[in-house]
Amino acid sequence: MTKQKTAVVIGVGPVAGLGGALCQRAAAENLHVIVAGRTQAKLETVVASINAAGGNASVVVTDTTSEEQVARLFTEAENIGPVDLAIYNAGNNMPGDILDMDSSYFEQAWRVGCFGGFLFAREALKKMQPRGNGTLLFTGASASLRGKDGFAAFTSAKAGLRTMAQSLAKGYGPKGIHVAQVIIDGGINGDRLRERMPERLEKAGEERFVGLEGLAELYLFLYRQPKNAWTHELDVRTHLENF
Ligand SMILES: NC(=O)c1ccc[n+]([C@@H]2O[C@H](COP(=O)([O-])OP(=O)(O)OC[C@H]3O[C@@H](n4cnc5c(N)ncnc54)[C@H](OP(=O)(O)O)[C@@H]3O)[C@@H](O)[C@H]2O)c1
Repeated sequence: MTKQKTAVVIGVGPVAGLGGALCQRAAAENLHVIVAGRTQAKLETVVASINAAGGNASVVVTDTTSEEQVARLFTEAENIGPVDLAIYNAGNNMPGDILDMDSSYFEQAWRVGCFGGFLFAREALKKMQPRGNGTLLFTGASASLRGKDGFAAFTSAKAGLRTMAQSLAKGYGPKGIHVAQVIIDGGINGDRLRERMPERLEKAGEERFVGLEGLAELYLFLYRQPKNAWTHELDVRTHLENF
């Protein structure tokens, strides 16, 4: 019997977050979703929501900055079925003035925002390359494209992730692997915003924040593209964004 193809999504938190929405959308595409992140209880809630909708998913608790854990993630995914879609969604926006910044703070932003992307991409490509097939996607932010006062750590990590993804696309596109990225230019309307900045949401209004459903559709649009018409980078914002 042919095994169901898998999607590995790392950087999953609440159901109403980008990671959660990407998992649900990939499951609706008939992929078995490997839901990966740091907090088991959140991952299990995402899996339960997928199962309730008739989809298949499993939890693999993984810190994306751990070389050993990321390798194990892909081994476990391939035991279920061939990894056809891999999404690097982890990110840790930690603003702060550089004079107040401990060196470990800067390094940690890079570890999650960039280095983890390298570990994840390497393991995904090891599995996909022999088959000459697969899609590897990265989540970017406004920080991928430009610096901003107070965001030196985060912007340097996201910009590094972006150019790494470009390099991989050039190297692995000819080998049949679609490497692409989605640059989200604006705040996301999800639990993170609701919990951390409810007043910002209240003041600006929901319309000013990028919707989860539309975002998840973009990733799946990239996944479904035929090999003779690939997009490498998409940028997305609300109609009200001043860019
Ligand atoms: N939120 C926004 O407004 C916004 C805007 C533009 C771009 N983005 C990008 O979108 C992506 C998702 O952000 P989100 O805010 O919507 O969050 P989310 O997808 O709901 O959750 C992301 C999850 O990543 C997990 N994570 C953090 N460090 C990790 C690590 N070392 N290993 C594994 N998982 C880790 C966190 O887990 P824990 O819950 O365990 O901490 C968090 O819940 C990020 O790449 C972010 O830069 C976000």
